[in-house]
Amino acid sequence: MSLENKVAIVTGAAQGIGFAVAKRFVSDGAKVVIADIDDAKGEEAAEDLQTIGEAMYIHCNVAERLDVRNMVAETLNAYGDIDILVNNAGIVIGSDFLELEEADFDRVLSTNLKGAFLCSQAVARHMVEKIEGGGEPGCIINMSSVNSVLAIPNQIPYCVSKGGVSQLTKSTALALAPHGIRVNAIGPGSIMTEMLSAVNSDREARQRLMSRTPLLRIGEPAEIAGVAAFLASQDAGYITGQTIFADGGRMPLNYTVAVPDGD
Ligand SMILES: NC(=O)c1ccc[n+]([C@@H]2O[C@H](COP(=O)([O-])OP(=O)(O)OC[C@H]3O[C@@H](n4cnc5c(N)ncnc54)[C@H](O)[C@@H]3O)[C@@H](O)[C@H]2O)c1
Repeated sequence: MSLENKVAIVTGAAQGIGFAVAKRFVSDGAKVVIADIDDAKGEEAAEDLQTIGEAMYIHCNVAERLDVRNMVAETLNAYGDIDILVNNAGIVIGSDFLELEEADFDRVLSTNLKGAFLCSQAVARHMVEKIEGGGEPGCIINMSSVNSVLAIPNQIPYCVSKGGVSQLTKSTALALAPHGIRVNAIGPGSIMTEMLSAVNSDREARQRLMSRTPLLRIGEPAEIAGVAAFLASQDAGYITGQTIFADGGRMPLNYTVAVPDGD
């Protein structure tokens, strides 16, 4: 198993893409911490994964420095190490630009961008200390989005936050490269989770989405987990500072795809 004896923290792993990543990591042999703010779903997710391997839930609001510090301390206490961090926790708040509230802008940026910074710094401090003591370097994976590059007019804080995640990925990759710690990102397109459920249940919105998706289907969380498993593995040992887009072909597409009627 490729992640045997590794310890991973996955933020926002109570459901959706984060849960799929946590499940894949446990299946690959890692001990996994599910860090989330939804205690009921987080505990349930950990119990579910305990049937296939080692997992635990820790309450952590990634936007709160003390929560993050506590999450790192509790993980070290329970599993003695941290090899992999996946900064996956993220939220969307849609609003027309002219109506957008300052508090909503701050909330999205605090979770999606500042949260990734706080977790990366806290975990990297542990990783660097470990390396200086002769330990193996670990890696960090940020959950970005196609919206780190493309833009949506009524999702401004989200797009800004993911653009920031792209630069966070590059700059922390450079900062941590001297220690051998790799930092990469995944840029999902449209993936079947709660975040996407509103779009998927609206036929017109789904057609719009498909017209920008050459593979003509919504992606599965497990398909993002597969990319995370690759980036966390030694097969990706020479990759750092990159965002891998798993988006059904959206990024290379100019214009739109002809969508068959009735799909
Ligand atoms: N679903 C998609 O189509 C899609 C596309 C591109 C990128 N992404 C990104 O993937 C990540 C996961 O998305 P998802 O679709 O699985 O979302 P989701 O809403 O299903 O799950 C998000 C999880 O994050 C947790 N969370 C929210 N705020 C938190 C905080 N402050 N601290 C800790 N946990 C918090 C939630 O409780 C939830 O469990 C996000 O970063 C999102 O931006 C998703």
